[in-house]
Amino acid sequence: MRVVVTGGAGFIGANLARALLARPEVSEVRVVDNFVTGRKANLEGVDVTLLEGTILDRDLLDTALTGADAVVHLAALPSVPRSIADPLASHHANATGTLEVLEAARRAGGPYVVAASSSSVYGANRELPKRETMRTAPMSPYAVSKLASESYLAAYHHCYGLGVLPLRFFNVFGPLQPAGHAYAAVVPAFLDAALAGRPLTVHGDGGQSRDFTYVGTVTQVITEAVVRRVVHPDPVNLAFGTRTSLLELITELGSVLGADLAAEHVDPRPGDVRDSQADNARLRELFPEVVPVPLREGLERTAAWFRTL
Ligand SMILES: NC(=O)c1ccc[n+]([C@@H]2O[C@H](COP(=O)([O-])OP(=O)(O)OC[C@H]3O[C@@H](n4cnc5c(N)ncnc54)[C@H](O)[C@@H]3O)[C@@H](O)[C@H]2O)c1
Repeated sequence: MRVVVTGGAGFIGANLARALLARPEVSEVRVVDNFVTGRKANLEGVDVTLLEGTILDRDLLDTALTGADAVVHLAALPSVPRSIADPLASHHANATGTLEVLEAARRAGGPYVVAASSSSVYGANRELPKRETMRTAPMSPYAVSKLASESYLAAYHHCYGLGVLPLRFFNVFGPLQPAGHAYAAVVPAFLDAALAGRPLTVHGDGGQSRDFTYVGTVTQVITEAVVRRVVHPDPVNLAFGTRTSLLELITELGSVLGADLAAEHVDPRPGDVRDSQADNARLRELFPEVVPVPLREGLERTAAWFRTL
């Protein structure tokens, strides 16, 4: 089968391209990426067909989707703080971008579409664990754009019969996730600081918690979804119900690196949710065979990759 990965030069996309190509069912992976946050180097030595440009370019999408069996739509401007700095840019890339991908899928005769949503859609709803049936309460333009994306997927399923799967990612981490920029995620930011001997910057008291998911587990679920064409118009949490505070994460990282890590506390970030933990009953029902990589092992693999940089 031929699979299009939008955002395939990004952190999750480049890991996914490798996972897809390892499956005998997949004959070609086509990546659409404009390298706004992704990097060509992430795909070095990976046998993909690269289409450079934006998902807002209809002609490019039509070329990419010709004869495609599935689309994994990951292209987006990620990060809550980035969306607060520039809400319209996030809206164009994430919400309008998803609509353009769905329209292109419709024009292409309806390939299967899996897309990345985010746990940030739960936002101000503090109930734990997060069940997909809970009220969504976005707290940032990024979260709004992700809620729009998953809603568009459901609408295209109901109106046009498109086979879709909106997945709500929680905090994904692993190799190829960059540090050293203003919008870096917490695991690479901590690892980068720790390996350089700098204190780890913690926003707030560090008691905020997240459901961390190793990228290899995420790509395993998406690959299974594509190969088995798992359709579910309502969103599905892609995380495994663990809850780790940032202070616990620092302790675990210290143990992985064999170092005592110092933290420096700064102001909490606006738009950040306090706690996040997935209910994964729906995921388990759809993907009973997937066994997640435990946090410790994932951190070890990620640290090993960071050491090669
Ligand atoms: N990493 C996480 O923890 C996490 C959590 C929740 C949701 N997500 C979602 O997962 C997806 C992948 O995230 P990631 O962490 O790999 O981020 P990333 O920034 O590494 O990947 C996004 C990719 O999309 C590309 N892109 C952005 N705008 C584009 C456009 N207009 N046209 C074409 N390409 C474009 C970027 O260049 C990049 O390669 C995103 O949709 C993100 O919102 C990620």
